[in-house]
Amino acid sequence: MNVPTSYGEVEEMIRAPINDKDRWWINANIDDSLNHGHVNLESYQLILEEVLKDKPKRVVDIGSNLNQYAYLFTNEGIEYVGIDVNASMNPLTYQGCIFIAGGYEQVREWFKDDVIISHLCVGYFIEKEEVLCKRLILGDELRRSKYDKYGHHRKECV
Ligand SMILES: C[S@@+](CC[C@H](N)C(=O)[O-])C[C@H]1O[C@@H](n2cnc3c(N)ncnc32)[C@H](O)[C@@H]1O
Repeated sequence: MNVPTSYGEVEEMIRAPINDKDRWWINANIDDSLNHGHVNLESYQLILEEVLKDKPKRVVDIGSNLNQYAYLFTNEGIEYVGIDVNASMNPLTYQGCIFIAGGYEQVREWFKDDVIISHLCVGYFIEKEEVLCKRLILGDELRRSKYDKYGHHRKECV
């Protein structure tokens, strides 16, 4: 796995063509993410709905885990940069989708003009106030605005 070490490398790597060796891994990860907790997938779908309102060139996901939800964005033609401190599980990378191994705090200046997304990381491991960005979209906040703590749709409760 190649990991960018500067903002210039982000631009270069995100456009690098995908190689055959990685193809099976992409498919394996997409299958896995479809089977992964539906709650997390649904949160990422809520994030996507918000992102599509002004369709940026790129999103940056803080606490991206294995980049397993990247396909939701890259399928829409949006580049995806995943950042996670835990790089031990061989995260998914392909053309349009890269991974940065390390804490967001180390690279936050790189992405201050980007749309930042996060689910169960910003607001938990990183304070919202620490995030530098054009726009911050949090999956867990979107879920809370849609569902109550029992998982019931809020509109059905009123
Ligand atoms: C609860 S998991 C959520 C993963 C994924 N966003 C999801 O919803 O399935 C939180 C993730 O944040 C990562 N994380 C924690 N602190 C971080 C930091 N300072 N910078 C980047 N990632 C961090 C963890 O390694 C972990 O993968």
